[in-house]
Amino acid sequence: MSSSTNFSEAVANSSKIKSASNEEKLKLYSLYKQGTIGRNRTQQPGMFDLVGTAKWDAWNSLRDMSMDDAQKNYVTLVNGLLGVKIDDGEKIYSQSSGPVLVSGVNRIRIITWNRPEKKNAMNEEMYVTLTKLLRDFNNDETVDIVVITGSGDYFCSGNDLGNFMSVDMNDKENEVKKWIGIIEDHIASYIDFKKILIGIVNGPAVGLGVTSLPFFDAVFATERATFNTPFTALGQTPEACSSFFLPRIMGYAKATQMLLFGTKITAREAEQCGLITEIFPDDVLKSNAWDRIHKMAELPINALLHAKELLRGRDRDLLHHVNKTEMVRMKERVNSEDCMDAVLKFFARKTKK
Ligand code: COA
Repeated sequence: MSSSTNFSEAVANSSKIKSASNEEKLKLYSLYKQGTIGRNRTQQPGMFDLVGTAKWDAWNSLRDMSMDDAQKNYVTLVNGLLGVKIDDGEKIYSQSSGPVLVSGVNRIRIITWNRPEKKNAMNEEMYVTLTKLLRDFNNDETVDIVVITGSGDYFCSGNDLGNFMSVDMNDKENEVKKWIGIIEDHIASYIDFKKILIGIVNGPAVGLGVTSLPFFDAVFATERATFNTPFTALGQTPEACSSFFLPRIMGYAKATQMLLFGTKITAREAEQCGLITEIFPDDVLKSNAWDRIHKMAELPINALLHAKELLRGRDRDLLHHVNKTEMVRMKERVNSEDCMDAVLKFFARKTKK
């Protein structure tokens, strides 16, 4: 069954949805508009038209999503809201809504960070959901390839800087410990991931959006992407095993520029130094990336997975050790005055403008 048939059916079935939150209704509306019209080129409603503005914003936040992806996400969301699981030859996996969307066809799963209004900054729900998905897919014999991408104009702006701000100061020690545990566990799920992991970097990447990339087996990026890790300026230190990976991938001279001095690099530089696989103009990123992913999916899967294990397996114990060591330092750093000052400065910057 073609994806357009699925979409038409989902549109027809949407009237059967009995309950949906306002957020889910807005998502349905915006995916429908993006899937049928494409980019929002309408005039922004007046400030007193609150409903119109919410709808306009929701549609506008999907401006970088292709019509095809919007239709697929629409189908996923409708099926999720109806509790439907489709199995009609071309198996469509759907389980979605919230800041992490999941969809998939046959043996491929697509995880989309879906917090475009915060540039896909990682909050607790995103960490915990993604960790669980990586573990589930790792153990799911019906899954071979997992693709991770972002919605909106950013790939990911890293750890949500509000995470450490929202800690209860009366119980700071335990709260910070909880957060570090969540992040350490998240990185561990990447270290243990044995299926093929592909990144489609749809825009700039910051912090964890960059440092997680060495765990991917191929990374396709838009040429407008940039990559930076402003750890030092935030009073923090490298995470996600980047202190291990980056010097090995790009050499100490470049890794030092990024990890110590926070230098931002372009997509072309990231490609040249081996951090990512290939870059494409924005408008053909998804189609080119998917051409390559479908070819990968045709390869003999057992040979592919064994080859990945040969490349990565021997470093696994070492990476768990690096992850723990980095997190011990991070725990100390996020409690530091440097870090608190930098985060407060970040959230105060708009009020100053
Ligand atoms: N944590 C929390 N909120 C974030 C965030 C992050 N990492 N990145 C972006 N946001 C939020 C902003 O606070 C803003 O929210 P608001 O509209 O409620 O004020 C919204 O996302 C849009 O960001 P904004 O800064 O207005 O967009 P921009 O295009 O001017 O800049 C960034 C985008 C990503 C360059 C900038 O937001 C930034 O520097 N973020 C921090 C990145 C970072 O340091 N990550 C941690 C790395 S270790």
